[in-house]
Amino acid sequence: MEKYIELNSEQDTKDLAAYIATMLKEGDVLCLYGELGSGKTYFTKQVGKMLFIEDEISSPSFVLMNEYKTGKFPLFHVDLFRLRDEGELLDLGLLDMIDSGITVIEWPELAENLLPYKTLSLYFHFDGKKRWVNIIPDRDHEQFFA
Ligand SMILES: Nc1ncnc2c1ncn2[C@@H]1O[C@H](COP(=O)(O)OP(=O)(O)O)[C@@H](O)[C@H]1O
Ligand SMILES: [Mg+2]
Repeated sequence: MEKYIELNSEQDTKDLAAYIATMLKEGDVLCLYGELGSGKTYFTKQVGKMLFIEDEISSPSFVLMNEYKTGKFPLFHVDLFRLRDEGELLDLGLLDMIDSGITVIEWPELAENLLPYKTLSLYFHFDGKKRWVNIIPDRDHEQFFA
């Protein structure tokens, strides 16, 4: 099952983030696919606000991972764009943390083989004019996108 949602404004992305934030629990993994500028980090910032994270969420593209502890759940925000191999991912220790918070991964392609089989996947698109997202929920979340 796949859900198509238009994101015609920043408010649309905020609304989606608010909806998704209500369904999250510890151990959940969100995979955010999409080209540079398609809105992955912006979406994550909004999820962070909805989880009552006080710190400003910044793009982890240089540091690979940021951890936020002040919200409703710990949030691990990961960007694997610069990752070269799966070994580096293991070095991050991410897989050991997943159970203790919410994990949001931008550019998750390289990690796919190492991730838990249950991930809520969002495919962001921006063609220069229109923005949209295709959502493929895992079993735990499909009821929210029926
Ligand atoms: N739904 C939206 N409507 C309008 N602008 C958006 C929307 N989502 C994101 N943006 C803008 O697009 C720009 C790039 O988004 P960003 O989240 O950094 O992309 P990515 O992380 O996918 O590279 C940001 O300036 C952001 O404000
Ligand atoms: Mg980004």
